Amino acid sequence: MASIMKGSSIFELQTFCLITGASRGLGRTIAIRFAERFPAGSVVVLMARNAKGLDQTKSASEVNNPAVRVRTVAVDLGAVDEDTLRQNLGKVVKELGVSAGDFQQACIVHNAATLGDVSKNVTQHVSTTDIRKYWDVNLTSVVALNSVFLDLFPQGKVQQRVVINISSICAIQPFRSWSLYCAGKAARSMLFRTMALEEPSIRTLNYSPGPIDTNMQLQARTETADPELKTLFYDMHENGRLLSTEESASKLTSLLEANSFENGADIDYYDIK
Ligand SMILES: NC(=O)c1ccc[n+]([C@@H]2O[C@H](COP(=O)([O-])OP(=O)(O)OC[C@H]3O[C@@H](n4cnc5c(N)ncnc54)[C@H](OP(=O)(O)O)[C@@H]3O)[C@@H](O)[C@H]2O)c1
Repeated sequence: MASIMKGSSIFELQTFCLITGASRGLGRTIAIRFAERFPAGSVVVLMARNAKGLDQTKSASEVNNPAVRVRTVAVDLGAVDEDTLRQNLGKVVKELGVSAGDFQQACIVHNAATLGDVSKNVTQHVSTTDIRKYWDVNLTSVVALNSVFLDLFPQGKVQQRVVINISSICAIQPFRSWSLYCAGKAARSMLFRTMALEEPSIRTLNYSPGPIDTNMQLQARTETADPELKTLFYDMHENGRLLSTEESASKLTSLLEANSFENGADIDYYDIK
């Protein structure tokens, strides 16, 4: 079935929306901006490890739109299996007393990510435990959560399913000492480009949010091994050249309001006028 809703804002539909990495940074702002746009009866579920951070995002999201119910799920995406993911989402659905048929749209935002150990070049990554842990958080959980979520909202039960992957310039450009991050972002982008071919009815977007002033950038300018890259991030911060989470989230919401992107497209903050 071809995408049926292309061209109309995703925010017009009553939606069950899951956002990962919503305890701080870009994920928090995405949650607040999405929650204020969805119509009454929508549900926004926030996922990350830090329960306090999730609660703060929940409060900020509810203030703007009390007609949207917001729930939190505190979970370590690097240490979950598919059953735990299913149980966690099942618990939210049960507690709210809803089912897939109550919504016009299901939307998942894969925002959670880690920079990983950027103090090493690729030839210095040797601990299989650490390497596996990195893929677990940044890749394995993304694939499994995506499947569990889409299974909860099968085609036909909702009018539209939307999958958004928060990507990075690092998906297409190598950065010295950022090998795991670059490889993870490249893999994530390809996973969703493949899904877009396999599942043309799902609106699938890879969005690269630009350099944003968050904890991840703090780690970038303090822990990056490559001296040139470290200086670049330091200078960007010093000279006020980092974006705010508001600026980046606002471009994402504009993209989703227009809803005219090609399925599986990789769109960068700087591509959007
Ligand atoms: N900042 C940038 O310049 C930049 C540039 C390009 C792309 N991005 C991308 O934008 C997205 C958001 O990044 P950000 O800058 O907002 O980073 P951030 O401030 O570090 O936030 C990362 C989020 O991911 C969650 N997370 C990390 N590990 C997790 C785990 N094991 N289980 C569950 N949740 C986990 C964190 O929550 P907990 O710690 O509470 O678990 C947090 O909510 C990421 O995909 C990042 O790659 C950022």
